[in-house]
Amino acid sequence: LFLSHQSEPIRVLVTGAAGQIAYTLLYRIAKGDVFGKDQPIILILLDIPPMLPVLDGVVMELQDCALPLLREIIPTDKIEVGFKDIDAAILVGSMPRKEGMEKKDLLKANVAIFKTQGAALDKYAKKTVQVVVVGNPANTNCLIALKFAPSIPKENFSCLTRLDHNRACSQVAMHCGVSSDKVKNVIIWGNHYSTQYPDVHHAIVNTHGCELGAYKAVKNDAWLHGDFILTVQQRGAAVIKARKLSSAMSAANAVCDHIKDIWFGTKEGEFISMGVYAAGNSYGIPEDLIYSFPVQIKNKRWKVVDGMSTNDFSRAKMNATAAELMEERDAALDFLT
Ligand code: NAD
Ligand code: LMR
Repeated sequence: LFLSHQSEPIRVLVTGAAGQIAYTLLYRIAKGDVFGKDQPIILILLDIPPMLPVLDGVVMELQDCALPLLREIIPTDKIEVGFKDIDAAILVGSMPRKEGMEKKDLLKANVAIFKTQGAALDKYAKKTVQVVVVGNPANTNCLIALKFAPSIPKENFSCLTRLDHNRACSQVAMHCGVSSDKVKNVIIWGNHYSTQYPDVHHAIVNTHGCELGAYKAVKNDAWLHGDFILTVQQRGAAVIKARKLSSAMSAANAVCDHIKDIWFGTKEGEFISMGVYAAGNSYGIPEDLIYSFPVQIKNKRWKVVDGMSTNDFSRAKMNATAAELMEERDAALDFLT
């Protein structure tokens, strides 16, 4: 306990801090769910000028939680304050998709934000900063931020597909009548959004103490090839339709899972999904994309789990989502020139 009070606080930036994902996320970070129960935190909350009064309310609420790990809260609309010397950047702030809106409509508005924030990372952040992009379209926003932050290693950037990963685990668990922790090693390939490929060919389900491949445990290939994939792919849109707002509690929860795994590593023998820089040497996926792969993490370094078999069904879906990401990247780069 004494030790905990002696460790140096880390500086954690959350953008979009007045928004709905942040509302859940900030509490979880500040109470130690993400960086550890003995890691003091300085929370930097960045949003745009019209949201500063709302941000004041968020600051009051964080103070009122009386959380011992939370050493300082810095609300700001200034990029040079927000990105200064940060250890972690959680880039949530952007325009969220509304009902009926497709991802490409979002590109134009959002890539400009991630260009500016990439440049700010380059200029003001620690070179060891870990950058997690949540704001949509998450993969392409992440790629843009990375391109405008050449002094920070590409490996320090990732985007969130953990929500899709958790959705896939949960769907399989519900189908098998087990709790979600009994399902591991699902894979989300490619994009967050509708061409993503949730793949359970290598997933394992623990039913009554016995580990089975997901196909054996589910005993319904038609569901796994059909409604399961569609449900996971379209879950974000389904939540928007129902709530008239995009997912926030589950998104914040997935951000916590994602960053916790970066900070503390993945479990032995398990992998998780995250969007990372494709260098052109994994599963035939073209380089220069942020593509979601199965990864293992140790000492804050991720590694794609290579060498798993992929059949024709999987291959076609992995390529289709790569093609969509290439299109998105090229459109984003066009908007910026
Ligand atoms: P929200 O509208 O409630 O909050 C977004 C906040 O970002 C707002 O307060 C807004 O003022 C702020 N913002 C806008 N531009 C900014 C900028 N340049 N700098 C700093 N802040 C800025 O939205 P939300 O529901 O919290 O969602 C945020 C983003 O996360 C959306 O893009 C949404 O689509 C995305 N999302 C991603 C996933 C995922 O799994 N990757 C899941 C859910 C939502
Ligand atoms: C989600 O997966 O819930 C969100 O990314 C949906 C969206 O389009 O904002």
